[in-house]
Amino acid sequence: MEILHVSAECYPVAKAGGLGDVVGALPKYQQDVGHQAKVVMPMYRTKFLMNNEWDVVHKGYTNIGDYFFDYTIIKEKTNVLGFGLYLVDVNGLLDRDKIYGYDDDVQRFTAFQVCVVDWIASWQFKPDVVHVHDYHAGLIPFMMQHCYRYNQLASIPTVLTIHNAQYQGWMTWEQSVLLPPYDEWKRGMLEWGTSINPLASAIKCATKVTTVSNSYLEELKFMSNGLEALFEYEKGKCSGILNGIDTDVWNPESDKYIKHDYSLATVEEGKAKNKAQLCETFGLDMNKPLFVFIGRLVGEKAADLLPGVIGDSFYYIGRRMNFLILGSGEPDVEAKLNGMTPISQGDYSCYIGYNEGLSHLMYAGADFLLMPSRVEPCGLNQMYSMRYGTVPLVRNTGGLKDTVKDILLPNGYGLVFDNASVGDVCNAVWRACELYSNKEKFSAARERMMQLDFSWESSVQQYLALYQSLR
Ligand code: ADP
Ligand code: GLC
Repeated sequence: MEILHVSAECYPVAKAGGLGDVVGALPKYQQDVGHQAKVVMPMYRTKFLMNNEWDVVHKGYTNIGDYFFDYTIIKEKTNVLGFGLYLVDVNGLLDRDKIYGYDDDVQRFTAFQVCVVDWIASWQFKPDVVHVHDYHAGLIPFMMQHCYRYNQLASIPTVLTIHNAQYQGWMTWEQSVLLPPYDEWKRGMLEWGTSINPLASAIKCATKVTTVSNSYLEELKFMSNGLEALFEYEKGKCSGILNGIDTDVWNPESDKYIKHDYSLATVEEGKAKNKAQLCETFGLDMNKPLFVFIGRLVGEKAADLLPGVIGDSFYYIGRRMNFLILGSGEPDVEAKLNGMTPISQGDYSCYIGYNEGLSHLMYAGADFLLMPSRVEPCGLNQMYSMRYGTVPLVRNTGGLKDTVKDILLPNGYGLVFDNASVGDVCNAVWRACELYSNKEKFSAARERMMQLDFSWESSVQQYLALYQSLR
């Protein structure tokens, strides 16, 4: 089968979070089982772009509204990622340093999508399925079906994967002029509330919709930032397929970012060496359990609770643990976390920013990972941490619910709590400290986690079965 993934991120080309990880891995594993998988994404100005060689495969000319422009599709020459990687170059619009966060993001991502559809229309042999990820690619199913220029694409099945329904890409009706001319009778397929909602449009227009865990799909019917009724209405075409992890990249035995690799057999010494390196770098106490948080410092991740959790844990449980935070996001959370460094007695530190290498070292060197997320469609951090023998503390939601089993249950290995509150997280921190002091139980949990299978194998088969059902 020929599968075309359309995404704003793909690791290691450009990544802001888990979307990048998934789109950098799923196609590779689809290719491994004999399918043709391609990824098309915007050509940002990234290191990967500079360090690799490219062939021009298509040149086109199109427009968003009255802005007409040339675009180029380039392909990475050597298949270094294990699948066909294509970038859309639009001078001045897409070739920027950052992925998101510009005032003209609506224009940028609309232009990207128009180019992708325009390019597919030029193929002699069309893909068997166009698989779009999140709202940045959400207008594509509509364009393929209802834009006059592209109606030869209407019969190609489309799959939408929702990685995060919090972000929907709202556009005003004035911005509808950015789209290629479409059948006005189909306006409703763009609309939600009184505006254009690219995610809602994709849910309506895609042939099938998936979410990145089963529990998240259930939650969306009750809590999806305004789309609840739509999920209820479209539930017949929705299913949950849990993400896997790229075990080539996330493997403590061969991780290129860490100096001290380890396996299940050498986990004690291996983790101790990585922890020592971390503690030395951040001035922490090697003898205390190390709790880390890695992620976007936003409300969804309940990052605003962290200052309270750290302060209250020290106050109520005692200075029995270290905390190390890696992340960036809301300025007030960043400021609070930075502002707490003076309280450290060699037991707290933070790194505000994005640092891929440090994240790997933290999964490897930490004892515990904090994930109090209010919303977590799947979550990759907890799966990485378990593979690296780091016990996750998670709220019972979305993909966290589907992947972490509390230590109190038969064969459990993690610490699960119900509320995104300082009290609940502190209670889990206390339970973790108790677990840490029981060496036998702690090692058993570690061993159990490290043997869990979070590989892509089964999820790849589920995606393939879904595509097959569309033919
Ligand atoms: P989300 O996509 O919602 O941010 P996920 O758990 O799916 O959450 O994936 C987050 C990914 O981004 C993981 O690979 C994690 O290690 C990485 N990550 C998040 N923040 C940072 C950061 N500040 N530095 C390095 N890696 C980060
Ligand atoms: C999103 C979600 C996260 C998920 C990731 C990859 O960013 O917030 O939970 O793991 O996408 O699907």
